[in-house]
Amino acid sequence: MIDYKVKAAELFGQQVEGVSIDELIEMVEIPPNSEMGDYAIPCFKFAKILRKAPNMISEDISNKIATGDYFEKAVNTGPYVNFFVNKKFFAESLLKEVFDKKEKYGSKDIGQGRKVVVEFSSPNIAKPFHIGHIRTTVIGNSINKIYRFMGFDVVAINHLGDYGTQFGMLISAYKKWGDKEAIEANPIPELLKLYIKFNAEAEENEEYKDEARYWFKELENGNQEALELWQWIKDVSLTEFNRVYKMLNIEFDSYAGESFYSDKMPRVIKELEEKNLLVESQGAQIVDLDEFNMPSPLIKKSDGSTLYITRDIAASIYRKETYDFYKNIYVVGSQQNLHFQQWIKIVELMGYDWAKDCVHVPFGMVSLEEGTLSTRKGRVVFLEDVLNKAVEKTLEIINDRNPNLEDKEEVAKKVGIGAVLFQELYNNRIKDYTFSWEKTLSFEGETGPYVQYTYARTCSILRKYQEELDTDIDYSLVTGDKEFEIMKTLEGFSDIVESSMNKEEPFYITRFIVDLAQKFNRFYHNSQILTEDKELTKSRILLTYAVNTAIRNGLQLLGIETPERM
Ligand code: ARG
Repeated sequence: MIDYKVKAAELFGQQVEGVSIDELIEMVEIPPNSEMGDYAIPCFKFAKILRKAPNMISEDISNKIATGDYFEKAVNTGPYVNFFVNKKFFAESLLKEVFDKKEKYGSKDIGQGRKVVVEFSSPNIAKPFHIGHIRTTVIGNSINKIYRFMGFDVVAINHLGDYGTQFGMLISAYKKWGDKEAIEANPIPELLKLYIKFNAEAEENEEYKDEARYWFKELENGNQEALELWQWIKDVSLTEFNRVYKMLNIEFDSYAGESFYSDKMPRVIKELEEKNLLVESQGAQIVDLDEFNMPSPLIKKSDGSTLYITRDIAASIYRKETYDFYKNIYVVGSQQNLHFQQWIKIVELMGYDWAKDCVHVPFGMVSLEEGTLSTRKGRVVFLEDVLNKAVEKTLEIINDRNPNLEDKEEVAKKVGIGAVLFQELYNNRIKDYTFSWEKTLSFEGETGPYVQYTYARTCSILRKYQEELDTDIDYSLVTGDKEFEIMKTLEGFSDIVESSMNKEEPFYITRFIVDLAQKFNRFYHNSQILTEDKELTKSRILLTYAVNTAIRNGLQLLGIETPERM
């Protein structure tokens, strides 16, 4: 795509000396309304050098600029030189580009194959995959897709919480009260029950705690019985989680969870010792982070067992050695900010300069509106139930709006789940938010169903057109205000994806899609697309195709499906 900012800067640069093109590019502004032009460069800065008033400078420069293909004219308004894009030329280069790039439209090869690790979701085995996990799962998956789209070779990792003292508890509890059949029939709730019961008993009875510690230690030592039970608990839990991942269309390249690092721990401990970073404290080992104003974390307990943080240190070293990452991203809630600051600092103290490439991407909390879901399985709200409920409610809406739709169930799945994902990615990730059905499932306003519906509308128009798409059209026919607004939005897509990536903020893309859909609908309600006039139709169809492509590519980056009929 032509970069109009650069072009404007270059034309301006031919008229003034002593300022670099890069500096001028930095100075380019987008005027608040398009009547004032599409790009503007202010002249205040040159008043001193040229010994002239900014208004005079801008007048001078705009008179001298020879606009060429890219701009229709350059006009001064006060101290600004305003550039008006040549709309016909703009339309042609943009629409041809979308047509050529198709599912790649919006991408840039920034990564050039470099490796990025994106860790997300990472639920705890034997515990519910609850509504709180939705955020890491959905935001993480989108970040994963955005990096891929921008040319990075991404390794998506699910760092399962499949290790730690709680497994000692589960094993002890199972040995006391476990019912294999009940668990297999209804794994997570049954395992949760065992866990809760054990915790309650352990409050009363110290022996339980010792027993749990004993069994975790045995697990770490490779005791056959402990290993088998643990593996079984892990298998039944994963079957449950995979159902959710399947609903969300999410795939991981690696499920190396916490347990994966158990045999890599002695090396970490040894290394920390050799680098004089371990300090003894009441029989246990800590790293002293006092001087960095952080509490000093426990690295190894007095009984020799390791901790969550130790496993994170081991995991990062393993990832560097295995993938040689350019960036190592962790999509984990902001409650764990301190944990990440601590271990990344420790890795830095160990002398690894790649500590700076480990990035914690935190997010705020989600809460449910009162009465959102009856919690028949206890206090926790299962993610799967939320998704199923969304699909169910969407099916009701479809039955109402479009009862003869083919494959209603399939469409309801894509729309219902898409609606939840869209809400999830609608705001700045750090913001806490409250989930509400009304907001999520509405076909109006800034929602998933609204943009999917707009997408389906573009599909329907393109279906009706029946002829081959053609880029050999009269581009002056799509230069009206509404059309131009759409095209200017489209043109910014790749920059938006790029900032989404740099800031790990998918919501820029969500907002872009809403904006584009609204502009397209304004155009659609105002002008017929399939008309009697063949040339006019051809040009509007190509514009519709471009919108269709950008919405699809955008939704794909959010992990949202795009049904062609709704
Ligand atoms: N399993 C943890 C939890 O559910 C999240 C793991 C985060 N990732 C990490 N590398 N520590 O809270």
